[in-house]
Amino acid sequence: MNLQGIYYSEPVYRPPSEAASLLIQVTEGCTYSCSFCFANMKKFKIRDLVEIKKDMDTAQKVYGKDVRKMFFLDGNAMVIPYAKLLELTSYAMSLFPKLNRIGTYAHAKDILAKSDEELRSLCESGLKIVYIGIESGNNQQLAKAGKRVTVDEIVAAFHKCFRSGITPSGTIILGLTGNDNELAEKHIKDTADLVNRASPVHVIKDGPLPVWYISCLALMFPDGSDVARDKASGKFIPQTADGILREMKLLIENINDEVKNCVFRSNHASNYLPLKGRLSRDRAKIISIIDQSLKHPENVRPEFLRGL
Ligand SMILES: C[S@@+](CC[C@H](N)C(=O)[O-])C[C@H]1O[C@@H](n2cnc3c(N)ncnc32)[C@H](O)[C@@H]1O
Ligand code: SF4
Repeated sequence: MNLQGIYYSEPVYRPPSEAASLLIQVTEGCTYSCSFCFANMKKFKIRDLVEIKKDMDTAQKVYGKDVRKMFFLDGNAMVIPYAKLLELTSYAMSLFPKLNRIGTYAHAKDILAKSDEELRSLCESGLKIVYIGIESGNNQQLAKAGKRVTVDEIVAAFHKCFRSGITPSGTIILGLTGNDNELAEKHIKDTADLVNRASPVHVIKDGPLPVWYISCLALMFPDGSDVARDKASGKFIPQTADGILREMKLLIENINDEVKNCVFRSNHASNYLPLKGRLSRDRAKIISIIDQSLKHPENVRPEFLRGL
């Protein structure tokens, strides 16, 4: 698809917080194949550098030089080798001098594949935020989802971001274990533990702590994905809306006070209840809103309005 002369490979997906960003297609598809994901259904490729730069040039003509936020598509643009990524961030900054930040999705392993110095220089050249799929803090669940990463590696990727100045924003999938509440409890408690370990307090010992983000999504079943097939065959029974809210409550309850400066959000369209707050400050308020919704299930987002 061409929009105002800029190339996009459909379907286009980006985090809710990048709704106002200029989207630039730098890769297509993904090098991984997680069982729940919609992003790996296209054939993977890194687009030609010349073509990407042409799109940025066109965007400058269409939207002017004052663009403030840019997001590099697709599912895992962090896989691009350092030198090429740096060329792209630098080019973007040269075209749009008021650019506050460039963001991208990033698998933890592709953050770890870059050195601290490389990440720092990417940050200095505009890459300010990366969206990392945590999904679960339980190694068995990560393996089952085909995520090809461990809990320790995810924690290390967060710490690496903090050291380099890049803001990490992690996503957690509620309902990943279906309607098995014993497994769900383990998935959530282990995930809270991962968030506790990921906190910048473990890396930054002096100076101000950075703001960072944790978001919840609720498992969806995109056509063609493994989870959709398992659901259709009856192998996977989805978690109920009530169960999803209980998972979110358990998660918030188990995140400890060492998790400083962390903004919690459930504003993605897959969620039953959109919430936002600072974990250390708003924990009680968030829990009380979840409790209200558990008492009044008629007020949660209806199934037909949920999406990816
Ligand atoms: C497009 S992916 C990019 C993440 C990045 N490539 C990584 O692996 O860290 C963004 C996030 O959307 C969420 N997501 C993907 N498919 C989903 C589904 N079927 N249901 C709920 N959340 C999903 C996951 O949290 C995933 O990490
Ligand atoms: S979750 Fe991330 S790594 Fe996994 S398939 Fe989707 S985009 Fe790729």
